[in-house]
Amino acid sequence: NRLLLLTLYRKCGYSHDPLSFLSSGNVLLLTLVTSQEKNFPGFRASYSQVSLTTQKCGGKLSGLKGSFSSPFFPSNYPPKTKCVWDIEVPKGNFVKVQFTKFSLSEPGQYSSQCPKDRVEVNGERLCGGKPDSTVVTSRSNKITVKFTSDSSYVDQGFTAEFEAFVPTNPCPGKFHCINNLCINNTLRCDGWNDCGDGSDEDNCKCEAAQMKCKNGRCKPKFWQCDGVDDCGDNTDEEDCAKCKAGEFSCRNGRCVAEEKKCDGRDDCADGSDEAECKKSLVLQQCSQFTYQCRNRHCISKLNPECDGQPDCEDESDEDGCQCGTRPYRSSRIVGGQVSREGEWPWQVSLHIRGTGHVCGASVLSGRWLLTAAHCVQDDDKTRYSQADQWEALLGLHVQSQTNQWTVRRNVKRIIAHPAYDTENYDNDIALMELDADVTLNQNIWPICLPPATHHFPAGTAAWITGWGATREGGFAATILQKAEVRIINSTVCNGLMDGQITDRMLCAGVLRGGVDACQGDSGGPLSVTGPSGRVFLAGVVSWGDGCARRNKPGIYTRITKYRGWIKEKTGV
Ligand code: ARG
Repeated sequence: NRLLLLTLYRKCGYSHDPLSFLSSGNVLLLTLVTSQEKNFPGFRASYSQVSLTTQKCGGKLSGLKGSFSSPFFPSNYPPKTKCVWDIEVPKGNFVKVQFTKFSLSEPGQYSSQCPKDRVEVNGERLCGGKPDSTVVTSRSNKITVKFTSDSSYVDQGFTAEFEAFVPTNPCPGKFHCINNLCINNTLRCDGWNDCGDGSDEDNCKCEAAQMKCKNGRCKPKFWQCDGVDDCGDNTDEEDCAKCKAGEFSCRNGRCVAEEKKCDGRDDCADGSDEAECKKSLVLQQCSQFTYQCRNRHCISKLNPECDGQPDCEDESDEDGCQCGTRPYRSSRIVGGQVSREGEWPWQVSLHIRGTGHVCGASVLSGRWLLTAAHCVQDDDKTRYSQADQWEALLGLHVQSQTNQWTVRRNVKRIIAHPAYDTENYDNDIALMELDADVTLNQNIWPICLPPATHHFPAGTAAWITGWGATREGGFAATILQKAEVRIINSTVCNGLMDGQITDRMLCAGVLRGGVDACQGDSGGPLSVTGPSGRVFLAGVVSWGDGCARRNKPGIYTRITKYRGWIKEKTGV
């Protein structure tokens, strides 16, 4: 007998929720691998046996709707299993089966034939990985779903829902996708592929604010030339540069031959042809786009700092790079999710004494925090500009729930940007000095500040975090929330925001709406993970038009514009 060992799960870092694993047979092997680096507490676990017969599988299902899944889902199903579900809905209806998760992969599996583990519906075999919400429909009021696994390899299996529908009207009040999914009518022709097969975006009449892709789809005009292929055929990213083929478009609008890019010479005359190179040549001249090393020489690599690779001759681009990592874990925002403790160790909650949480901030060092200037402006009732009114909570996860990693500090000094404009939120940035140094720990860690030349291209994924309102006009969150947004081109954003965007602002959001920062998130970070895994502070939550509205991105203070000012005031 040969024994084949397969890794079912691989885990590292830490987890606050209990983890549980299920073997696929009567043997389970667990291996602990440690590096030489550090000592950690490790884990404690218990085990128990689960009888295969206690998990009944298959059977008769009836009614208008219901659900079923492979044995032990979301754990792996056992080998050599056979289940048959006979589904019957009231006469005159057909049945729709929607697989919300489907994963039956193993070597030797061919999705056309499915010789190994498989699901059979209507005589059709399904196996491998399937997109979430794969739909199969019947042509009568009955359908049979068969699941079989062979003696080798197992996987997670599936979970499914069935529903009766009237044959003449498969999607009452909804849009019927080609793949038989039903989606809300409002999602049709909105530029997003909601069906999964794109059929909700076919045959659309483009509105004034939309562009027509070559493939016939309509996409919001402001997605044009944002560096992301939104059409699917890249037509929204064509003809963006005014330069001819074989030419590089400089950021100052000039065109130079493609070969001149990254040759170590400033051909654009603004340095932009030497700013985004893979290898780091030492340049003869510096420009506003090129990174300057401590020895004053400039190099041609894009965002070289703290990327894990020394690029400067003096290696100064890798100095002071303890920032932007999540120490222990190795491994509200509107429309967001609950974050894990220690996931955003630079996130700070700023409290006004007697009121509680008011704004967010970011940890720059054990002594300095960065927040928004509008958070520290007096109003009729509260003297927000006075340091003694504030209290900073670092390493906090749940409001009013502190633990051994949480540190509370008084604020000694507030430095709001002298050019902060209360009218248009220009220069919305402020520094806070704590009255005593904080010792960094697994839940308190500084975020990296990007140098002035750091480039965050449109389309870059970024995370917003905070305890702000979870909907426009709603209540603040108690558990720290996170949400993923994208950086949006400034020209496009300025158009959407009626010309209110200055060079010192940065837009980020999800333009279909539904995801954004909101009241109470102000001052908090817009975090971008660099290629080496280090996290940089791209922006500070500043303002918006409502929260999470369609085509109204969130507006952030552009941190690269303040690198010199922060250094001057804090030494960080
Ligand atoms: N100014 C708000 C505050 O004080 C936050 C604004 C962010 N709004 C937005 N839609 N992104 O908390």
